[in-house]
Amino acid sequence: MNDHLKITNIVGARPNLPKIAPLMHEMKRHPEVEPLLIHTGQHYDDKLSDIFFRQMGIPIPDVNLEVGSGSHAVQTAEILKLVEPVLIDQQPDVVLVVGDVNSTIAVSLAAVKLGMRVAHVEAGLRSFDRSMPEEINRILTDALAEYLFVSEEDAVENLLREGRPRESIFFVGNVMIDSLRYFLPLAQQSRIGEELGLVTDSSWRDFAVLTLHRPSNVDSLDKLREIMSALDSIAAQLPVIFPVHPRTAQRLLQGGIVHHPDLRLIEPMGYLDFLCLLSRAALVLTDSGGIQEETTALGVPCLTLRENTERPITITQGTNVLVGTDPEKIVVAARKSIASRASTRPLPPLWDGHAAERIVDTLSRVVPRNKSAFAVY
Ligand code: UD1
Repeated sequence: MNDHLKITNIVGARPNLPKIAPLMHEMKRHPEVEPLLIHTGQHYDDKLSDIFFRQMGIPIPDVNLEVGSGSHAVQTAEILKLVEPVLIDQQPDVVLVVGDVNSTIAVSLAAVKLGMRVAHVEAGLRSFDRSMPEEINRILTDALAEYLFVSEEDAVENLLREGRPRESIFFVGNVMIDSLRYFLPLAQQSRIGEELGLVTDSSWRDFAVLTLHRPSNVDSLDKLREIMSALDSIAAQLPVIFPVHPRTAQRLLQGGIVHHPDLRLIEPMGYLDFLCLLSRAALVLTDSGGIQEETTALGVPCLTLRENTERPITITQGTNVLVGTDPEKIVVAARKSIASRASTRPLPPLWDGHAAERIVDTLSRVVPRNKSAFAVY
């Protein structure tokens, strides 16, 4: 039997990169697997893309579609159009997508329409909030994918409720936590604490880390002003390090929003410096998805500035608290959290650094190598 397995892997935006890194490393360890990598170019800045490739040793993509920014429709349509000929040319046995960004759904749709099998890593997460573009991307990608790799048990239930067959669902753990565990020792050698004046005589002072980029939080200037007023109050208590996403930077500039001097706005950071800061923070405030998981894995208190989360295990078994965006509630929750600190808890099941191994083993076992069966165009 021909054992050779050709996997086309897809990345597009920053949060995809710590997920694909351990998968590409693992695929390289399997002689029967031929991994290819397509970057859609949804994120293109050095600080949102290239630095992650360098730091995490992700191979240079075989193809970069260079789609760049645009409205959701334009970005999704461009990816669909540009990826189709590449997939036809590569003829993979399976196309692997991660996460919930526009690149995830766009490539999945192009692939299934070519009769190709799709594997979705981080399947089944649901915020049940259809105003989030990522929620739409998750639902649609999971409807299309044949292999659904799940990072927490609630996701299995979500997929079954949506009628996905049990035999397509594989509970394998969390690839982003594979990266975190692998890179943490290196991240802890980062000098970012010294650079930001958070370390004196080898000891760290208390500080918080903030990330904010959800359209629902930053696109309305009134909403952004409200949230920033809460963050000013927190910064009056301890420095808040705020690596600013380009979307948020544009809005802050547009609104002429001023802030407390200890709310320290800096450029987006590379993976290792950011992981170093996360691991040392007294408190993290975020509206990101992945950071809720990283803080749970690190045992660092996290306040999520959203009304819902697609990652409920970070609340039930982790350090995450959903506080929403009411400024008073944010300030009260931050004070409480700083006073109490997180207790150590066991990690969620299978967040053990071996998710990528389980995924590649499974694909090797279950994906048929019968390209001729595909009704390609
Ligand atoms: C995207 C993802 C989101 C993810 C986030 C992480 C979707 C629907 N959203 O949102 O899930 O959490 O990435 O960063 O896929 N820009 C740059 N340089 C870049 C990329 C973008 O300056 O390299 C600017 C552009 O002006 C763009 C804006 O940032 O208009 C927003 O970028 P975009 O990729 O559209 O969405 P994100 O908000 O980053």
